[in-house]
Amino acid sequence: MHPDCERILLTEEEIRLKVKELAAQISRDYADKELLVVGILKGSVIFLADLVRNISVPTCFDFMAVSSYGASSKSSGVVRILKDLDQGIEGRHVLIVEDIVDTGLTLSYLVENLKTRGPASLKICTLLDKPSRRVVDVDVHYNGFKIEDHFVVGYGLDFNGLYRNQPCIMVLKPDVYKGGKKHDSARAGIGNRP
Ligand code: XMP
Ligand code: MG
Repeated sequence: MHPDCERILLTEEEIRLKVKELAAQISRDYADKELLVVGILKGSVIFLADLVRNISVPTCFDFMAVSSYGASSKSSGVVRILKDLDQGIEGRHVLIVEDIVDTGLTLSYLVENLKTRGPASLKICTLLDKPSRRVVDVDVHYNGFKIEDHFVVGYGLDFNGLYRNQPCIMVLKPDVYKGGKKHDSARAGIGNRP
């Protein structure tokens, strides 16, 4: 385990099995349809790559980058699109893929935004969900794991851009994100929560 983390929350094997399960369910639900998977950069990248390789219906994918928080480390509810989709989604079956749903602010904004573009259907798939942190309701159709309110990293999830390449999901030691442990990434400031 990475020394900046206090424990493993989800092992590679647990994640692998869950991804297969989610992909099987998605493949059944979209049988005879063509799917457009929309990944939210950058946290969803690893999950999306594993998920789409287990989906058996014809599948395209595209990406959006959004920033849900301003300069402060607290959720502001302000969502900015940093990179939009490369293609239109009118008449298409769209599945948004996220790493984690926290307050729900990012996804509720994205759903409203994408709905105005006239997709045939619009659903959400997330690997992780922290229901205790929810501020706005979002209808999550495919949900990997419900977790407690810990700051987690690995398998795409980061702190200051680090740990995304770790193969399992781990709880980060609080002294790392609270700045107690001095290293370059911690000094650079906090990108997301907390
Ligand atoms: P919302 O809008 O639901 O935003 O609050 C979800 C986004 O917040 C980030 N996030 C985390 N990132 N470990 C992370 O690496 C966490 O525990 C965590 N909780 C929230 C993440 O970018 C997600 O897309
Ligand atoms: Mg994210």
